[in-house]
Amino acid sequence: MTVNLYDYVASVPDYPEKGVIFRDILPLMADGEAFKQATDEIAAFAREQGVDMVVGPESRGFIVGCPVAFELGVGFAAARKKGKLPRPAVSASYTLEYGSATLQMENDAIKPGQKVLIVDDLLATGGTISATIDLVEQMGGEVVGCAFLIDLKDLNGRERLKGYKIKTLMEF
Ligand code: PRP
Ligand code: ADE
Repeated sequence: MTVNLYDYVASVPDYPEKGVIFRDILPLMADGEAFKQATDEIAAFAREQGVDMVVGPESRGFIVGCPVAFELGVGFAAARKKGKLPRPAVSASYTLEYGSATLQMENDAIKPGQKVLIVDDLLATGGTISATIDLVEQMGGEVVGCAFLIDLKDLNGRERLKGYKIKTLMEF
């Protein structure tokens, strides 16, 4: 039995600012069946690529990425918002649908040549994932795919990620 993942996304108009429809994935995480189905679908995509490590950007990328890594039996590395890491880090800046930020990873998080799957809840402008790709590539990792629960199609994130394999489970 499969569930319809769209039933587990809450759409909230004008959050965090007017004109933005916030796609809240926490109801999906709160349902064991939906969470497992989404995780399985991303893990199946990852297996096709052959993945050594999963990387997820803070913070919703942690929630979606960790169970995928666990299911694959590979490691998970966090891309954190600036200023949170205690050891030497690589950095990359990006702009968001609302605001801008810098992501960092500890500079030994990825070994040169490792095949990396990047996972996040949602692809909007692609800024977050472009920065995450940049971090992985600074360390010599090979990004073999990027997977998301949601693609906000009108924001053209896929265009920005041209050349990378992309898997999304839902479109809005
Ligand atoms: C959200 C979302 C993605 C990103 C998508 O994260 O979880 O990471 O924005 O936008 P983009 O494709 O335009 O970069 P946010 O920075 O709001 O952080 P959060 O996960 O901590 O809420
Ligand atoms: N991150 C960037 N844009 C978003 C949106 N519309 N809903 C949820 N998370 C987001």
